[in-house]
Amino acid sequence: MDSATAAGRTLAGRHILLGITGSIAAYKAAMLCRLLKTAGAEVQVVMTPLAKQFITPLTMATLSKNPILVEFFNPENGAWNSHVSLGEWADCYVIAPATANTLAKMATGVADNLLLTTYLSARCPVVVAPAMDLDMYAHPATQQNLRTLVERGVRIVEPGDGELASGLSGKGRMAEPGEIAAFVGRLLDGQDEKKKTLTGKRLIVTAGATIEAIDPVRFISNHSSGKMGYAIAGELAARGAEVTLVSGRTALPVPPGVERVDVLSADEMYDATVAAFDKADGAVMCAAVADYTPESVSETKLKKGDGELFIRLRRTRDIAAELGRRKGERILVGFALETDHEEAHAQSKLEKKNFDFIVLNSLRDAGAGFRGDTNKVTFIDRTGDEALPLLSKQEVAERIADRIERLFAR
Ligand code: CTP
Repeated sequence: MDSATAAGRTLAGRHILLGITGSIAAYKAAMLCRLLKTAGAEVQVVMTPLAKQFITPLTMATLSKNPILVEFFNPENGAWNSHVSLGEWADCYVIAPATANTLAKMATGVADNLLLTTYLSARCPVVVAPAMDLDMYAHPATQQNLRTLVERGVRIVEPGDGELASGLSGKGRMAEPGEIAAFVGRLLDGQDEKKKTLTGKRLIVTAGATIEAIDPVRFISNHSSGKMGYAIAGELAARGAEVTLVSGRTALPVPPGVERVDVLSADEMYDATVAAFDKADGAVMCAAVADYTPESVSETKLKKGDGELFIRLRRTRDIAAELGRRKGERILVGFALETDHEEAHAQSKLEKKNFDFIVLNSLRDAGAGFRGDTNKVTFIDRTGDEALPLLSKQEVAERIADRIERLFAR
């Protein structure tokens, strides 16, 4: 099925607000508008003043069959173009092309044109398709702005690699119109009631950090926030699975429909997870489990002395490896957080722990790993690698759930 057909299924009757900014790629917005219209969507176009230099309002008005909006009011008759009602009208606001300048303004809340004020008041999902020179795209300022926007829920259709208007070649070329239309279609489809594709499946998710007591006051732990695991548990439950979330200590709310089992130490997590696995169809091992724990826990608070203090640690049991031994036909997904030789380490964990696939995070990637709301991961299985762009943790959870669905359909 081509992307336009896929988009067509979910775009019929939808209200799409198409934002166009001043980039050479603006010519592709004409094709995008056509695709959206052909798929049955109603389209209104809002342009920045500079965008008019790149593609004419006449072209866009003809294609969208609606007058183009550029100014806050119509200079001829003074009629007010309400950014609030535009934002309310839209089911999705797609800004394509989005220049580095517009992305920076969106990230900082600048509201000096109609396209931006509409962004600030929009309640619908917002999608941006960046288009710029490769160095502008790679610049830390642009990357930081994109991370800020992703954290606030904006979806990005990543630019492609290829020939750029500057004559250079690299990443920055706006995604093709068909890809953007299909992305919007999938997004709106996913916003409808989730399809209960995992009904009848029992899944376990481990999440958060474990806490290994040294004495009644101190402990050894790590920086895991649990956000990724909670997002996965919520997504699997939203698709109809019966989910047991074995969770280290966090302040996160339990996602709807999920049963949470609270644990503290690696040993407690092992017992709870292994027991639940008996009746499960699979597990996602997202917790950051301590590999070592104090050999003995002092019953009273340790008092400081003059010299050094040595704490003897023993190995904890590996939960994932144990489930890997028992798994049979069940599904097992692992995580690997690495700082060096990422692929090789992840590959060896995939084999050693008998995972169906492993989700690799590199701490070297900005926007990946602990605490934040974004993640940049690579899926690795026995057939190869799939590197995903920077996504919100919720979107990563959706991609993981998609893969789990495919594994069940084998
Ligand atoms: N894991 C687990 N139980 C443990 C240790 C790890 O279930 N005691 C799981 C994690 O949840 C993750 C995967 O195993 O899915 C990889 O964990 P990681 O700590 O990165 O790997 P280790 O095998 O502990 O290797 P190392 O510490 O050497 O990186």
